[in-house]
Amino acid sequence: MAISESKKTNPLANLLKPLLKRDKAGPRLELLEAMEAGREVGDKEWQKSGKEHSWLHFTRHSPFSKGDMNIIVRGEGHFIYDSKGTKLIDGLSGLFTCNAGHGRPELAAAAQKQMLELDFMPLWSYGHPRAIELAEKLLSIGPEGMNRIFFTTGGTEGVESAWKIAKQYFKMTGKPLKHKVISRMTAYHGTSHGALSITGIPAFKQMFEPLVPSAFRVPNTNYYRAPQEFANEDEFGIWAANRLEEAILFEGPDTVAAFFVEPIQNAGGCFTATKAYFKRIREICTKYDVVLVADETITGYGRTGEWFGSIRYDIQPDMMITAKAITSGAQPLGALFLKEKFFEPFKDGTSTLAHGYTFGGHPVACAVALANLEIFERENLIEHARNNSPIFRKTLERLYDLPIVGDVRGDGYFFAVEIVKNKKTKETLSREESEKLLRGFLNNALLEAGIYCRADDRGDPVIQLAPPLTCGPKEFDEIEAILRKVLTEAWKRLNG
Ligand SMILES: Cc1ncc(COP(=O)(O)O)c(C=O)c1O
Repeated sequence: MAISESKKTNPLANLLKPLLKRDKAGPRLELLEAMEAGREVGDKEWQKSGKEHSWLHFTRHSPFSKGDMNIIVRGEGHFIYDSKGTKLIDGLSGLFTCNAGHGRPELAAAAQKQMLELDFMPLWSYGHPRAIELAEKLLSIGPEGMNRIFFTTGGTEGVESAWKIAKQYFKMTGKPLKHKVISRMTAYHGTSHGALSITGIPAFKQMFEPLVPSAFRVPNTNYYRAPQEFANEDEFGIWAANRLEEAILFEGPDTVAAFFVEPIQNAGGCFTATKAYFKRIREICTKYDVVLVADETITGYGRTGEWFGSIRYDIQPDMMITAKAITSGAQPLGALFLKEKFFEPFKDGTSTLAHGYTFGGHPVACAVALANLEIFERENLIEHARNNSPIFRKTLERLYDLPIVGDVRGDGYFFAVEIVKNKKTKETLSREESEKLLRGFLNNALLEAGIYCRADDRGDPVIQLAPPLTCGPKEFDEIEAILRKVLTEAWKRLNG
């Protein structure tokens, strides 16, 4: 399935050459020297320099002592290309970001125009036109009831900002004890100390403890592994939602500030919930004056087949965190949507929210976001995803004939395939088996077979799929064929 390409030169080398004049006495890195000397730079040089000097995120580096790093050099449409010339389907839209696909000239043009007009101005005490226009645009497509946008540069900062704003809001409105947060088990909400406290994955937290105190967990909506029999998913959802009420009552309603929930939980593998769950969650949050925060870092901007999961599942959040696909990944940007009530205490007098980010609402990122949303509208990407989602699901469900596939779940263009040892008993892989199969085989095998996606065992082992919204039945078939081939081999290895 992998397609080789012959082009291996680095087109930037010549462009960068004049910029690389360095003080002869300073450190001279081999990659720069090669570029400066006008030598062709490609995989070999990047491998050497990358292994010696780069630190990848959430990445085990030990395999690079024997094997190569995967270096991606180009993206076009729903394909990416690595430094060895291999063409891969982008089955994860970068990291749930490139919803309009890669290499959009409109986004490049918008960035260039903005850089020449106003390359940078912070939103500290000043406004700028693109942030103002973008806020207006976002509110026009967002869930009802939102009236303010606080810009960040990504999801973690959105989570951090939501918690801090909730805390200050309650301090300023006569409920100063409300500061605790509740989130769901195995949910990922980011990496800063505050956001990591909200994250529900113990393995990610242990090395950084003590974290910010006052963050608690309730069950998620993993229906496949529901702890008991339920008549249907609605009933299970009500059960799960009631655990939130229990936790609020246990901690004391006058101490709980916010509940964070993803419309579809990514970590653990696309845990969906029915509207009944979100309706009950809404009721509970209203009853105890707990801020309902929808973390749409992944589910925003069409991923669920609506602009936002909050609209699709009628969540009616008080705050909504978005990031990633707001620019289709072409610029780092996040937008926290808020109801006006959170802003009310800051409207008059001397009150200030002492919080912000130098690059939050960067003018170039905002310009790119505006151009990106225009593409969504012009090409009806949301409608396309909504109409094609059932085909995507059906295509993936064909994999049920494989003994290793226990569950296929998700919505929109966001699905997980759960890997099991025994379909009947739903027996999952042991830690050692998961380690061997996912890291030792699946991740590379998927790449070699022509797809970039994620084999993930933050919960039970799953393969996560979230292709660009531009994909259609042809790409679904390709994805299914690759998964079939790789999972068939995985089953043999698991039982070999
Ligand atoms: C639900 C959710 N919240 C927060 C984050 C953190 O976002 P970022 O990596 O942009 O800081 C992520 C990242 O994937 C996420 O999925």
